[in-house]
Amino acid sequence: MGDVDSLSKEEARKELRRLAREIADHDKAYYLKDAPNIPDADYDALRRRNLEIEARFPDLKRADSPTDRIGAMVTDGFSKVTHAVPMLSLGNAFDEQDVRDFAGRARKFFAHDKNLELAFTAEPKIDGLSASLLYENGLFVQGATRGDGTVGEDITANLKTIEEIPKQLKGTGWPEAIEVRGEVYMSHADFAALNKQAQETGGQTYVNPRNTAAGSLRQLDSSITASRNLKFFAYAWGYVSAPFAQTQFEAIKALESWGFKTNPLTIRTTSVEEMLAHYRNIEAQRATLGYDIDGVVYKLDRLDLQERWGYVARAPRWAIAHKFPAEQATTILEAIDIQVGRTGALTPVARLKPVTVGGVVVTNATLHNADEIARKDIRVGDTVVVQRAGDVIPQIVKVIEEKRPSGSVAYKFPDRCPVCGSRATREINENTGEPDVVTRCTGGLICEAQAVEQLKHFVSRRALDIEGLGDKQVAAFYKEGRIRLPADIFNLKARDGVDFPPLAEQEGWGEQSSKNLFAAIEVRRTPDLDRLIFALGIRHVGETTGVLLAKSFGNFAEFERVATAAGEGDEEAIENLLSIDGIGQTVVNSLGAFFANRRNRAAVDDLLGVIEPRPYELNVAADSEVAGKTVVFTGSLERMTRAEAKAMAERLGAKVSGSVSKKTDILVAGPGAGSKLKKAEELGLLVLDEDGWLELVG
Ligand code: IVH
Repeated sequence: MGDVDSLSKEEARKELRRLAREIADHDKAYYLKDAPNIPDADYDALRRRNLEIEARFPDLKRADSPTDRIGAMVTDGFSKVTHAVPMLSLGNAFDEQDVRDFAGRARKFFAHDKNLELAFTAEPKIDGLSASLLYENGLFVQGATRGDGTVGEDITANLKTIEEIPKQLKGTGWPEAIEVRGEVYMSHADFAALNKQAQETGGQTYVNPRNTAAGSLRQLDSSITASRNLKFFAYAWGYVSAPFAQTQFEAIKALESWGFKTNPLTIRTTSVEEMLAHYRNIEAQRATLGYDIDGVVYKLDRLDLQERWGYVARAPRWAIAHKFPAEQATTILEAIDIQVGRTGALTPVARLKPVTVGGVVVTNATLHNADEIARKDIRVGDTVVVQRAGDVIPQIVKVIEEKRPSGSVAYKFPDRCPVCGSRATREINENTGEPDVVTRCTGGLICEAQAVEQLKHFVSRRALDIEGLGDKQVAAFYKEGRIRLPADIFNLKARDGVDFPPLAEQEGWGEQSSKNLFAAIEVRRTPDLDRLIFALGIRHVGETTGVLLAKSFGNFAEFERVATAAGEGDEEAIENLLSIDGIGQTVVNSLGAFFANRRNRAAVDDLLGVIEPRPYELNVAADSEVAGKTVVFTGSLERMTRAEAKAMAERLGAKVSGSVSKKTDILVAGPGAGSKLKKAEELGLLVLDEDGWLELVG
């Protein structure tokens, strides 16, 4: 792939077309089949490249650009909603002249209206996903994605988990029916926390807050959406049964009075110069707002004038988005450090001479992987262009070759782990046959970096949650030899003062604090099954997967038996795992590989010798007809979304599976059901339609 900066316009156009297709194919594999066909980092690189090309040639951005489409992917999991009033997009202004032209067009259009003073609002353009929320008699009844602007997807259940979306409007004066529109987004802080957690669990890391917000909204399981702490700014409306304001500014105030968050940087002005000053003001605050914005939106204030001025194609004439240029700066790359993560991934980090980019001092930038460094030919000593765009982690856009010091040599990515000296290799991707983008240390638990990171993960808040045993303590105990493997944690007290000097006498510890630590460890000797599975740090097994596995197997022995058998290629075990809704081939492979590893099994055996995992208790409603039964939904449901049906079944103590097998008890088949229905009939299972199911569960 050529450097983005050297692409001609025609090449860029072709490349964007190719990328749109390729990314769409990967999305399909990932979202529809739950079977990604390329490594996440490669996928991220494609998306990044697409974004970079779009940033350089904004007018080439395609209508089906992957950048916008992420929120609009169609699965059979959500039903369709036709917006009563279409959701529009906005025309763009790229410089001040474009904005002056916009105001000039307004003046010209209304030139015949004597003494008319035109006012505009100006507010940040939030870089998230737009959503439309229907309120009837003040009650939130339905929420949808933008989709293609005309038809979106019903994500009501997910939107209901967002605290900033009122379920019941406050105050007075709302129309009987109103579609409130605005942006769902994720804050920088929440994004960073989520990514840190993903990195620790070896899971997929997220590209930027916007895509993550999109992915979070598209979960079939609302509890995942709920865990993402999404936020919402209201800034527009669609259908209204009666007018509720005369100006844009009044309308925003009304939305606010009904309980919505509206952007505090919204102003109203009659001067173009003030609009531009506000743009500069917002741009200056951009880095410290705590969420991504990508420009400023100006809207003609009076609603009657908006109607008169009207629309072009799918955008209003009366509004425009004034986009920010990406924030960039030039600095020197002083060193490339390699960090070793919990799963052995070697991540190169650029150490930069400190430079301010959009109000934030940047000293590090991610270099992603060996390919990325080679592609951009990044060398130590180079002068580089650093960018903070939508991404929170700064990136190196390119090298300024003219400034390259003489005698500089191409960077050689290490083939040994810098921590333990084991060979570092790139695995061959099973799906593509190509080497993985990530170089991994093969040392496993002999690698101190991996071992320590594993232990930190094991005791972390979302895993076993051992109070008083933080990153610092784990690192110190590891060094001392007190804790090398998870089982050692539970032997800490027994060995204290025997194999090691009493902890109470160690620097930073005392009688009380060591007692507290031993007590905190004792409490976790009977860990929850889902947390224990997550704590093991198996690649691709995050918290959600931990819960799925715990729910499905009920106790550790059964989980271990099936996962081990799957690792040995046992068809039934593999099938058993794959039938769990939400578990795909990647997780199955990873579970198999984990238990096939002798060292891992020994560590788990030792651990099970000192702890007693609590079996997972299904939240069974005792009198439910379907408690303990395994249910599969197929075809389209008409009375509720797939996510709702699933949540309901689980509430009643049923297990919801994604595929039909001998273990299935009930198949709920809606219109369009195909192979699953056939299989269920062959197996002689109980098959119900949606009404039959609702009757059964009362
Ligand atoms: S107004 C009829 N205001 O930008 C006008 N849109 O590029 C409807 N957006 O699809 C949009 N912040 O998702 C408006 N303050 C804001 C916005 C905003 C972000 C998004 C919205 C829209 C897209 C258009």
